[in-house]
Amino acid sequence: MSRYQRGILAEANLHSLYLLFNAVDGVEEDIRHHLAGFHKMITRYDNEYSESELSAFVAVGANYWDQLYPDARPKLLVDFPEIPDAIHHAPNTPYDLFVHIRSDRADVNHLVGSQICDLFGDSVRLAEQVKGFRFLDGRDLTGFVDGTENPHGGRRRDVAIVKDDDEKFIGGSYIHIQRYRHKLDLWKELPVVEQEDIIGRTKADDVEYPSKDKADFAHTKRTSLKDEAGNSIEILRQSMPYGTMKIQGLFFVSCCHTPTAFNLMLESMLVGENGHYDHLLNYTEAETGAAFFAPSIDFLTSYSS
Ligand code: HEM
Repeated sequence: MSRYQRGILAEANLHSLYLLFNAVDGVEEDIRHHLAGFHKMITRYDNEYSESELSAFVAVGANYWDQLYPDARPKLLVDFPEIPDAIHHAPNTPYDLFVHIRSDRADVNHLVGSQICDLFGDSVRLAEQVKGFRFLDGRDLTGFVDGTENPHGGRRRDVAIVKDDDEKFIGGSYIHIQRYRHKLDLWKELPVVEQEDIIGRTKADDVEYPSKDKADFAHTKRTSLKDEAGNSIEILRQSMPYGTMKIQGLFFVSCCHTPTAFNLMLESMLVGENGHYDHLLNYTEAETGAAFFAPSIDFLTSYSS
C-alpha cells in the first residue's frame, strides 16, 4: 500500500496549526517540487523534537487539483457541497492548499509552520492561519467532549484512507474543513439539560442518550447515518477548538476514504428530516468550508523532478 501521510491518522495532541494557502498562477512545477519535499522536512523536525509527537499532512484543494496535477484526478474529488434552502448556511470558501500540523508543543508547530512558509516561498499566499488547542479533557468550547465516537485503532485507517478502489490514489484521504464560530453567549444561557438534548449526550460524563431519547434535532442523531445496507457511515474527525477571548469556536476537520460521508452528514445537519435540522447550528456558524485531497507520500514524491 502507498504510504499515507501520518498526520491524517494522528491521535489527539495538545496543539494544532492550520495553514490555508492560495497559489500563484504559473508556478505549478515549483509547488509540485515543494510538496515532494514536504515529508522529508516533517520527518527531520519529528526526529529533532521526537517528544512532541509532531505530525502533519498537506492537502490540495478540489478547485486547484487539475491545475497542479493535470495528469490524474482522484475519482471522487468534488467541490465543497452547496446546500441551498437551508435555514443555516455552510459557505464554500475554496483554498488551494491546506497544511495541518499537530504536536504537543505550540512552539514546534510554530517552527514547522514557518519552515513550510519558507519552503513554499513566493509561490503561495497565506490566506488563513488558525491555532487549535486541546481544551480540558478533549472538550469543544461548548463544554462537551468532542471525538468520543471517532473510529479507534485500525478502524481509523479503514475509515480515513483510500484503499484499492482508485489505484493511483491509494493511501490518500478526502479532507473537509470548516471554521465554526460559536455563539457562546447564547449557548451559556441554555440550561444544561437543553444543551444535552441538542448534542444527544450528557455533558459532564459524556454518556450517549439511548437512541429512543434522542431528538431529531440532536447533533449526534443528525450525524449518525447508515447506508442502504445498514452499515454506519463514518468519518475521522480531527477537529480542535481555537480562539481568543473575543472570537472562539471549532476548527472542524474531516478525513475519509470518500467525500460522500461528510457531504451526507452536512446535508443531514443543515436540512435534516421533516424540518428537523441540527439545532447545534443555532449556536455556532460556519464561516469557511473547503474540500481537499491529501495524496499519499508516494504520489507527492513522484513529482520530485
Ligand atoms: C459527534 C461537536 C460539527 C460529525 C459530536 C459530538 C460533539 C460534537 C460534542 C459528540 C461526541 C463525539 O462522538 O464526538 C461538534 C461541534 C461542531 C460539530 C461543536 C461544530 C461546531 C460536525 C460536523 C460534522 C460532525 C460539521 C460532519 C459533517 C459528527 C459525527 C459525530 C459527531 C459523525 C459522531 C456521531 C455518533 O456516532 O454519535 N460532534 N460537531 N460534527 N459529530 Fe460533531
